[in-house]
Amino acid sequence: MSRAIELIIEKQQHLGFLSPEVPPEVWSRHRQQPKLRLGVLASGSGSNFEAIAQAIADGVLNAEITQLVYNNPEAKAGDRADRWGIPKQLLNHREFPSREALDDAIVAAMQQQQVDWIIMAGWMRIVTARLINAFPNRVLNIHPSLLPSFRGAHATEQALAAGVKVTGCTVHQVALAVDSGPIVIQAAVPILPGDTPATLHARIQHQEHQIYPRAIALAASGVWDEG
Ligand code: GAR
Repeated sequence: MSRAIELIIEKQQHLGFLSPEVPPEVWSRHRQQPKLRLGVLASGSGSNFEAIAQAIADGVLNAEITQLVYNNPEAKAGDRADRWGIPKQLLNHREFPSREALDDAIVAAMQQQQVDWIIMAGWMRIVTARLINAFPNRVLNIHPSLLPSFRGAHATEQALAAGVKVTGCTVHQVALAVDSGPIVIQAAVPILPGDTPATLHARIQHQEHQIYPRAIALAASGVWDEG
């Protein structure tokens, strides 16, 4: 991350645009529960995947990433898995006849690893009922906007084009419609004069890396289900 972006993030924190904290009771409940088995799906750079791995290594998240499934042979997420010693499996969507067939293969891979939660971290494939029904209420996704605004691809470009002054990121449970489902956590990110999709996305990603481990703890602790 460039120094300029770091300075903007510091300023943003002074402005009060912090990612929400999870209450200490949630952390203590989370840490008393058995270690979560997470299966991560990624298509690209994998910075969220790595932020979750780091939160586990730091003892913040009581979990284990049992495997990374990625769909794109070029995805940098695969290299990150190697660096972290996390097993990885390439399921190239081009080699499957349908979305359902890809999802069946993902479900089989995740069930074989006895995964508790599926964590979509930059997974750029539309998922089907096959995946969602195999892990009911146990599939999380992260999206670079304050949903329900700016669904789909190019969320940062959409936010800039709309002229909004605040955008952000959302972790939500996955439902059938793209980028929909109950919201677990959101963080706000101000749009600054001169922002480009790249500068805005860098600041959003900083917040994504803060909130995703918190969202996993919150969703898995059961507190969130209790309303
Ligand atoms: C993240 O910003 C995530 O919010 C976005 O892809 C990026 C992946 O980054 N996901 C979506 O747009 C899903 N609709 P990463 O590979 O560095 O984690």
